[in-house]
Amino acid sequence: MAKKVRERMVSYATYGVVLCLVLKSIFSLRTYVMLSRSFDADEGTMNGLKLNLVPITEVASDVSPLDLFLRHAKEPVIVKGALHGQPLMRADNVVEYVAQVCRDSYIDTVVYSKEVSSWAGHTDEKLMRIKDYYASYVKNSSNEELRYATSATFGMPFMCPALQHDMLVPGLASKPLPTGGAFRNYAQPTIFMGPAWSRSELHIDMMLMPFWLGVYAGTKRFRVIAFEDNLEHFGVDRGGFGSGRILSPSGKALEIFDPDVQEFPELQDVRIYEGEVKAGDVIYVPSGALHGILNTEATFAATSNSLWPPLTSHYAEVCTKSHFARRCKRMLKDTYLGACEVDGLNPFDDSTIEEFTKCALHSKANIELGQARSYVDKKGFRDIFLWELFRFTSYEDFCLAVCSKYLELDYTKSKQGPEQEAVCKRQCKVLGSRNGKPST
Ligand SMILES: *[C@@H]1O[C@H](CO)[C@@H](O)[C@H](O)[C@H]1NC(C)=O
Repeated sequence: MAKKVRERMVSYATYGVVLCLVLKSIFSLRTYVMLSRSFDADEGTMNGLKLNLVPITEVASDVSPLDLFLRHAKEPVIVKGALHGQPLMRADNVVEYVAQVCRDSYIDTVVYSKEVSSWAGHTDEKLMRIKDYYASYVKNSSNEELRYATSATFGMPFMCPALQHDMLVPGLASKPLPTGGAFRNYAQPTIFMGPAWSRSELHIDMMLMPFWLGVYAGTKRFRVIAFEDNLEHFGVDRGGFGSGRILSPSGKALEIFDPDVQEFPELQDVRIYEGEVKAGDVIYVPSGALHGILNTEATFAATSNSLWPPLTSHYAEVCTKSHFARRCKRMLKDTYLGACEVDGLNPFDDSTIEEFTKCALHSKANIELGQARSYVDKKGFRDIFLWELFRFTSYEDFCLAVCSKYLELDYTKSKQGPEQEAVCKRQCKVLGSRNGKPST
């Protein structure tokens, strides 16, 4: 049995092209529906110079995770309606509901400035209680400051554990690799809430990791530059693989939603994927992709960086060809539990990447822990609670474990740490409508 799975795993990544052809013939049987895409062509013109805007592919929620992460590995994809089974989608006003459930929790708030070179152009950080943030900046239409909230200091599991009764991990993301060697990243998912026109400008994620992001309320406009285009047009020296703020020779940062084409003439050749992620949708963004997000409506979303077995080949390639930017080599080593040698990886020798990939696909991380077989069999993917993803046996056990990680997670560096710890522990007694158990 195991041997058979292994053979399939090797064939699907090492000979990806062949497999894509096989998959194509399966698609003609309509395993999932490619939906129409739309965007306004006028928006692609800036000062008479044309941007190369490409609509993000949209697929229906019955897409299989193998198709998504293998056939579409290198491009962003919007999976329409992937959150429709989740309790949070049934709230009348999602943002207000979250503000109510998480009222005493502390969340980071930031504003965008084009003058700063920090991650996503975020600056002027203030830690606020969610109820105060919501009243001052989301519900308050007379407030012109576009202040955006994100669970950066305290990851969502510590910040507002009760939310996980309503907000599950989408089925397509539910079988990850042990990212960095572990299934437990207490810093994620990260939640984002904000008024219309708040934003995260162009950036790249830690360790060049791919991610899923689910929008529960409002609309987010994404602009994405794939790793391959970033490498070809901006190379490894323009800041793109550092903070993700691409710099012009005169030191200006590229604003992807208001690009200065004179400063960045390369932009005319770079494909900029653009799409609207609406309430109920999940977007997949590939390894090493630059991305900017503009909230065109008040919004609430959750996101996690994860690696999934079919991405093994692409992630190894991205990490190596970036010349191991953002400490991704460490991630590559740990994710496959040290089973495969990373020191031989060479950006100028593709065969070293192929060797690594072959080894990684055979590894325990992929076969057993990443449940490679279920990708091939297309079985067992369902929306799961966070405590299930983190391999606990109940919500309460998980919650108490996370809340008591206060010292270990070094939340002492924030003076609100002790208060937040108390909020966390109180929420461990709050059970969802289904007592924190899956309905199946
Ligand atoms: C709403 O915003 C205005 C303008 O910034 C501010 O003066 C007022 O205090 C805010 N109201 C609330 C309830 O926070």
